[in-house]
Amino acid sequence: MCGIVGYVGAEQAAPILLDGLARLEYRGYDSAGIAVVSPEHVLQVKKSKGRLQVLRDLVEGGKPIEGHLGIGHTRWATHGEPNDVNSHPHVSQNGRVAVVHNGIIENYLEIKEFLQAQGVHFRSETDTEVVAQLLEYYFNDCSDILDAMYRLLDRIEGAYALGVICTDEPDRFIAARKDAPLLLGYGEGCSFIASDVTALIAHTRDVAYLDDGEVAIVTKDGITVTDALRQPVEKERHFIDWDVSAAEKGGYPHFMLKEIFEQPEALRKTIFPRVHAGRIAFEELKFSPDALRRVRRIYIVACGSSYHVGMIGKYNLERLLRIPVETVLASEFRYCDPLVDETTLVLVISQSGETLDTMAALREAKARGAYIISIVNVVGSSIARESDDVLYTWAGPEIAVATTKAYSTQLALLNLLGLYFADELGTVTQTEYDAIVEQLLTVPGKMETILADTEPLQCLAAHYFNHDSVFFIGRNLDYALGLEGSLKLKEISYIHSEAYASGELKHGTISLIVPGTLVVALGLYGPLFDKAMSNVIEVQARGADILALTTERHAAEMRKVTEHVLVVPDTHALLQPSLGVVPLQLFAYYVALQRGCDIDKPRNLAKSVTVE
Ligand code: G6P
Repeated sequence: MCGIVGYVGAEQAAPILLDGLARLEYRGYDSAGIAVVSPEHVLQVKKSKGRLQVLRDLVEGGKPIEGHLGIGHTRWATHGEPNDVNSHPHVSQNGRVAVVHNGIIENYLEIKEFLQAQGVHFRSETDTEVVAQLLEYYFNDCSDILDAMYRLLDRIEGAYALGVICTDEPDRFIAARKDAPLLLGYGEGCSFIASDVTALIAHTRDVAYLDDGEVAIVTKDGITVTDALRQPVEKERHFIDWDVSAAEKGGYPHFMLKEIFEQPEALRKTIFPRVHAGRIAFEELKFSPDALRRVRRIYIVACGSSYHVGMIGKYNLERLLRIPVETVLASEFRYCDPLVDETTLVLVISQSGETLDTMAALREAKARGAYIISIVNVVGSSIARESDDVLYTWAGPEIAVATTKAYSTQLALLNLLGLYFADELGTVTQTEYDAIVEQLLTVPGKMETILADTEPLQCLAAHYFNHDSVFFIGRNLDYALGLEGSLKLKEISYIHSEAYASGELKHGTISLIVPGTLVVALGLYGPLFDKAMSNVIEVQARGADILALTTERHAAEMRKVTEHVLVVPDTHALLQPSLGVVPLQLFAYYVALQRGCDIDKPRNLAKSVTVE
């Protein structure tokens, strides 16, 4: 949700800022802007509504903008419509301060009224402009930008990652954060800030994570950090070993397709190091077997597709552990007075590790005494750092807004964890344990066989892309998987789509099934295949157009009742969604392609949602 970048060094800043923003565009893409201080200490601000390319064209790639220090922003609008004026950077009344911001300043109206009463004139409708104006107001008073910054941080409420430049300080800029991600990058004779590492890895792999309340002064020779009490902080540096190509399309037309195809490899990286000679080992886990035995209830808390992973987790973990497992949307969890105490284990799932609702739910659970294990993709992210234990999915950078490889690796990791716990608790037989582990290891290879032939999916997408309403139906794990299949389709193709537990259709939704309605019927979950068949026949009787998904074992039977049947290899019933999700991702992708949608950057969405 908004990406920010900052640079100071010997190079021209503008092209570096634009390249950094290109890597961050997935975080928000309704407008973009940069501010660069010229050698004559003049602030040059260029911003525009629309994709980054509009800005690039406007500034001719940045070359004519001279200056070695600057900040940039790509926006996902919260306050004020996307237009040129509301775009960041925001500049103070007298043009001495420019600000980029990710997050929301909750008390901005009160501050705005205060400043207006002092004669400050506002140009935009944004919450961010108050930061620029208030900083200049304090700076006018104290002539020290750092002091002004601390006074500002005392006054503002909400979430923020901030990059601030001041024309009176042409050799350095300032950054601060609270509840929004911000990284510091240490280069050779240059320094950076960015919302995430993808914007930095072309220049440096040496980074540190700014923590809540900290303020960084960034110069070309280094970065100094002070905490909320203005005391110096020695930051721990991290080396990022992601390949630059991991954040590029590498010949694929879209990141989403590339990431779908990266799934087998990502799964191998996530699963294989945690299985040795048929035994699961989580060497990184501090949570002890004794603590596990004290657990009386498990919550899985997440948003979006990560929540859908949690929905599968509820079925699988409850079955394996015989402990009540509840999966709750993070945005609901924090306000529902959850039944959490020291006997509760909370599993937090997040690709980005920065989703604000998930973070807030984590803090709520922690405050109530729960033990927190998070499943996270982005190393060093806020959720990873605030959890008692973090298990990383090694999916690498995921750029497409619609998640694919992060979903798959989260699911594999959650299954692995569930099985590991079941073994510790003695709630799984040795035979079943061995069978699931064996099957888990074969998932990447089986996924490759699905990916080897995408033609049937392309044909089906061409057949169905004009439908304007779709239902995904299934029971148990198929229902949980349907939630993800439905979300994938709607978020990138803009087709109305809903997932229903098949048994529930007859209580209302079946009235929406009319001749020609597309129903994606999931019949992957072996133990309930007969029931899935009954539901196919039930909706078919109302004229539905069926696209069925099942396994090799049941394909022939399914084909007896319906023509369009997608087939995936069989695996253990608990793992079947890991294979079933691939055709659903590809179906959504090819339908969106047929419809000419902007697949990697769907309208109104952002990959990392750092606002409530
Ligand atoms: C956004 C993304 C989804 C993601 C959700 C939760 O909506 O587009 O793909 O599932 O946020 O994000 P997280 O990073 O917490 O998994």
